[in-house]
Amino acid sequence: MFSKYLPQAEKIMSDMTLNEKIGQLNQITITPYTDKMDELRELIKNGGVGSIILASSATAGNDPQGHVNIELYKDLQKIAVEQSRKGIPMIYGRDVIHGHRTVYPIPLASAASFNERLVEKCYKNIAAEALNDSIRWTFSPMLDLCHDPRWGRIAEGPGEDPLLGSRMATACVKGFQGDDLKADTSIVACAKHYLGYGASESGRDYFRTEISDGTLYNYIIPAFRAAVDAGVATVMSSFNDINGTPVTGGKKYLTDILRGKLNFDGFVVSDWGAVEQLEHAGFAEDRRDCAKKAIHAGLDLNMCDKCYIENLGDLVKSCEVKAAEIDTAVSRILCVKLAMGLFENPYCKRTEYDESAHLADAKLLADESMVLLKNNGVLPLKKDTDILLAGPFAEDRRTLLGTWTLDGDAEKTQNFKEALSERANGRFEYSAALESGANSDVIVLALGESYTKTGENHSVSDISLEDSQIELIKKARAKGRRVVGVFFCGRPLALENVEEYFDAILYAWHSGSKTAASAADILFGDVVPSGKTPVTFPRKPTHIPIYYNVTSSGRPCNSYYGEGPFYSYLDGDSSPLYPFGYGLSYTAFEYGKSECDCAEISLEELKNGKKVQLSVTVSNVGDFDGKETVQLYIKDVVASVIRPLRELKDYKKIFLKKGESKRIDFCLGYGDLGFYGEDGEYLLEKGKFEVFIGGNCLCGDPVELVVK
Ligand code: BGC
Repeated sequence: MFSKYLPQAEKIMSDMTLNEKIGQLNQITITPYTDKMDELRELIKNGGVGSIILASSATAGNDPQGHVNIELYKDLQKIAVEQSRKGIPMIYGRDVIHGHRTVYPIPLASAASFNERLVEKCYKNIAAEALNDSIRWTFSPMLDLCHDPRWGRIAEGPGEDPLLGSRMATACVKGFQGDDLKADTSIVACAKHYLGYGASESGRDYFRTEISDGTLYNYIIPAFRAAVDAGVATVMSSFNDINGTPVTGGKKYLTDILRGKLNFDGFVVSDWGAVEQLEHAGFAEDRRDCAKKAIHAGLDLNMCDKCYIENLGDLVKSCEVKAAEIDTAVSRILCVKLAMGLFENPYCKRTEYDESAHLADAKLLADESMVLLKNNGVLPLKKDTDILLAGPFAEDRRTLLGTWTLDGDAEKTQNFKEALSERANGRFEYSAALESGANSDVIVLALGESYTKTGENHSVSDISLEDSQIELIKKARAKGRRVVGVFFCGRPLALENVEEYFDAILYAWHSGSKTAASAADILFGDVVPSGKTPVTFPRKPTHIPIYYNVTSSGRPCNSYYGEGPFYSYLDGDSSPLYPFGYGLSYTAFEYGKSECDCAEISLEELKNGKKVQLSVTVSNVGDFDGKETVQLYIKDVVASVIRPLRELKDYKKIFLKKGESKRIDFCLGYGDLGFYGEDGEYLLEKGKFEVFIGGNCLCGDPVELVVK
């Protein structure tokens, strides 16, 4: 896809000096040059900069960042284009993760929408806003699946499921990049953090990972494969090692798998400082050795630590690195620059966009991302309900935007108190710690966690609710009113110890600019909730890791998540509080019996493209119109490698008017029923499969299917 620009790239490279080539492999940040801009100008003029990252620190997701400075970027680009010998434009990148000026739900929350069409639309909007600020490349989507919610970066990813992760990957890449990277509405996407970063042991950021090849190919790689298939132009190599080999220095990962098995032909950028960290990790002797190992592995662009620009020239002279290796890396970067039309249009592409339309989309996505976890009938509230609002997040604006919000304006963000009071027609009172408050019908508690507890280098050891919030909940319950909890969070919290005190729980996440409006609309029933959990919610922090698609083991297990006579704990229920794919609505959906058009199919037929048709009738039997995510899971009953108890293979988010029924069709083919072996090759084995269709991963009554 990008290699079609190779002839043009080679032509450009034909008279480039080695130093100019190495310059293309160098990405810098402007901050170190703030007091010596002449030095930066000189470096650019000499062809020493291939790309600029618009971030001022290594952990931009939580550090305050400077605003974009379009004039400065234009000036510097002019030097690259008009004063450097080859005139190659630099590519400006920034972490535009889940929004730019308009902020959309954190990626974990948008995964809960199970609505990739809406996600794609929102990410298209993000691209338009970013372009307007000179940003042509974003370091998103983050595709790290995660089984440990202590990890602060779980907020940035799609949760625990490979299929959901893959669908979100495709949606984000298509949204950012559009059909044509040259279009005035497209920016370059970056699939990160390749590979395995989300498996960091004990949820501690930057920590080691131990991942079998089977897990790698079946759980972790699929979302990256989907991003590559969707045409992602760049991939970011991660900080972590896998079984002792740092990915950034690992040829197996950056070349053999990424290029060999996934057929990626864009360029790979390191994470910030990941090349020099090869030395800190004990994988390289010094910075020179870091550069050598990274280029050998297949790392093209070096983010910020200068190992390449300082050492590659010397390494080529001493024949430790081949000139051809440098050429390969440069050509990949040039191919992407050519594909995105950077040579024709190197400057800021100002595009008109309608801010209110973007905010409307942000609202729709926030509406669909929020998950109703519990409701004993108190919700939706009548408009004239007397409400007492309390809790630490009622007035917080910034937290609602979530981590990795570099350009969203917290001051312009409505808080929950404002949104709720605006809609309430009954008596509305606010008392943060419930010190005052007359006889309201309902107490609404704005709970959760600050955005500062999530994101990069912001992991926690305990995902319980803070003590002060637990006390507040008990205090609310003691008042004898109905209690509704609205949780603003960046991860699933372990809520078993407080769940019983609530009449209803709405998980609102950090859902961006429109968090407050969506949560308030859901409470009053103006929006019917439809989000589903993209991760399993543990009962207790000590139940981590807990995720739905575990493999079976030898002890018989009839029930799911391992509860029952085996695999359980002596001191409590080992099932999750809320399983994967779970979420309530104000209406009720009834599932008919699942049906399959054939009980048997041959492997040959499947290989030839034949598919099995499955269907189920879903009826809205409640009192509201509403959306439901109909989910299809399979279990490969016997295989040469034990397969998960359930695996999500398809889902459809549907809308049903009250009283309406619809037949929902699915089909399963060769690519859905098999798995990847240890060598990364796809295989489908003959044998029995069970297919489950329902509203979450615990749905029962499978249909049997035999592959002969
Ligand atoms: C993070 C990346 C981010 C990069 C640039 C790193 O520290 O891990 O996710 O894209 O910084 O800001």
